[in-house]
Amino acid sequence: MPLQASGEKRIISEGKKLTDPQKLPEHVAIIMDGNGRWARRRGMDRVRGHRVGAESVREVVRASRELGIHWLTLYAFSEENWKRSKFEIRALMKLLRQFLKSELEEMLQNGIRLQAIGRITKLDAKTREILADTIEKTAKNREMVLTLALSYGGRQEILDAFRSLASQIQEQTLAPEEITEEAISRSLYTSSMPDPDLLIRTSGEYRVSNFLLWQIAYAEMYVTPTLWPDFRKEEFLCAIEDYRKRERRFGATSEQVASKA
Ligand code: FPP
Repeated sequence: MPLQASGEKRIISEGKKLTDPQKLPEHVAIIMDGNGRWARRRGMDRVRGHRVGAESVREVVRASRELGIHWLTLYAFSEENWKRSKFEIRALMKLLRQFLKSELEEMLQNGIRLQAIGRITKLDAKTREILADTIEKTAKNREMVLTLALSYGGRQEILDAFRSLASQIQEQTLAPEEITEEAISRSLYTSSMPDPDLLIRTSGEYRVSNFLLWQIAYAEMYVTPTLWPDFRKEEFLCAIEDYRKRERRFGATSEQVASKA
């Protein structure tokens, strides 16, 4: 995204809401899938699909900020993605570094804080450095939190939480009965975040692919056949509108929800 496409800095207008703010999801999480298929269908290299996919990332981040969605979490690289070719992994890391560099100014102008979840130490040094730098420079931003899940796996996250809780028990700083749902939530990489309200998955697969397994217990799902590089602002707004029409019952009945409201 050219930051100064028309010679002007792009500042996303404060308070300009694209849809009724009522019932907006506080946290949207996205499984961005279909870059490879998008490229293959055009006789292109998979990496080209990722590159165009990065444009979708920019549009969705901007749209989220414009709408006033506070938390946006993107599944950018899974633990399982390490199985891909070295060439593809290198290309994905390069795209990530380019994205972080090109978006920094816009994140600062629009109050967007960047954070990352996952086994970040597995990333190469150059990528870790740019990531840490972006996290530090945006740390004081308060309008929106963009979380990139990198080298992320939901089971690995739960495993890390178990290990942390087990060592607290071993050190006798925690009693077994103190392991509650809240204590588990606090031990996850997402400890400071609310659970996602809406989980979007592109490319038509009905899977959660090891993404935020604990946190999506009550998330509403929006699955679209659109491949990620084609998933732009318009469809993102459709997903949000679709969410706003849902009734979230959290296990209660419609009548109970209505009487509470
Ligand atoms: C899934 O498509 C997507 C990924 C493995 C990576 C997601 C990366 C991006 C959207 C681009 C860059 C990201 C940032 C944050 C700048 P796939 O390759 O599994 O597609 P396929 O299932 O069609 O093969």
